[in-house]
Amino acid sequence: MREALENLERRVSRALATDDQSRIDVLGYGEISTVLRLDVDGRSYACKRLPPFPESAIEPYRTACTAYLAALGERGVRTASSTIEIVPTGGEPAVYCVQPIEDRLLVDHLRTTGRNDVAALAERLVSLVSSTIDDRLGLDAQISNWALDDDGEFVYIDVTTPLIRDANGTEMLDTDLFIASLPAFLRPVVRRFLLGEILSHYYDARAALLDLIANFKKERLDEAIPLFLEVANGTVEPPITRKEVDRYYRSDAVMWEVLQRLRRTDRSWQRRIRRRGYPFLLPGKVDR
Ligand SMILES: Nc1ncnc2c1ncn2[C@@H]1O[C@H](COP(=O)(O)OP(=O)(O)OP(=O)(O)O)[C@@H](O)[C@H]1O
Ligand SMILES: [Mg+2]
Repeated sequence: MREALENLERRVSRALATDDQSRIDVLGYGEISTVLRLDVDGRSYACKRLPPFPESAIEPYRTACTAYLAALGERGVRTASSTIEIVPTGGEPAVYCVQPIEDRLLVDHLRTTGRNDVAALAERLVSLVSSTIDDRLGLDAQISNWALDDDGEFVYIDVTTPLIRDANGTEMLDTDLFIASLPAFLRPVVRRFLLGEILSHYYDARAALLDLIANFKKERLDEAIPLFLEVANGTVEPPITRKEVDRYYRSDAVMWEVLQRLRRTDRSWQRRIRRRGYPFLLPGKVDR
């Protein structure tokens, strides 16, 4: 695995330097990480490349991830088996979260299964999300963050942002890592005015369910929205309306689109003016 990851990191560096992504296989572009496919000894892995970290941030990050996985497990949330791997580079080490590829992603399953099954899955997922989240344990419950295992149980895959707070309500995650992928001029503003607001959504079951349902639109699964709304409204107060879902989706889509544009601008600034490398792989145009 070590060698394979070092080789992957070399290919990523080359892709960053040349903008040619033909030698890497990108499974997903997150807002924070890039997910790359890696085949080793006949097995396939999803390798999530995090923003470059200073060495001193690695152990605290690992501790937060371990605590997060344990807390989710205690609530009955299965998680993809995940390890944090450090890969040396010329500069700051690259940090990867490595998981076996889940071959039954929930989004794909929902596209092909019948209405009764969608209803049953909605009941189970809404119940799992609302019984897991509280003000010290958060979830990014979006539909693209779940898979199904051989028992048909939900498996949570998006574990790279450990959403866990200590007894004082302080995030265990160093939130500067979370905003490292933003252009430098934006970071103070986001840190000061937006971060608390963004994070608080993950620790609130109603907000997490609203986000989950609104994202059906991005996944082109609009027909599942009424069913999930009905189920969610059995547990949240005040009920979530279709109008709220549509409004939320629009503003969320606009926000991420603006952010991606700023990142692309920042990338050309870093490369052309500052003559520096840009450390993140960015998606092309996202259809929202
Ligand atoms: N273990 C896995 N098996 C199969 N596909 C995966 C796996 N992990 C991630 N993916 C694919 O990559 C996408 C993005 O992964 P993930 O949700 O972990 O990160 P993210 O959304 O980029 O997170 P963040 O925004 O917090 O960086 C998933 O929605 C899924 O399509
Ligand atoms: Mg995700």
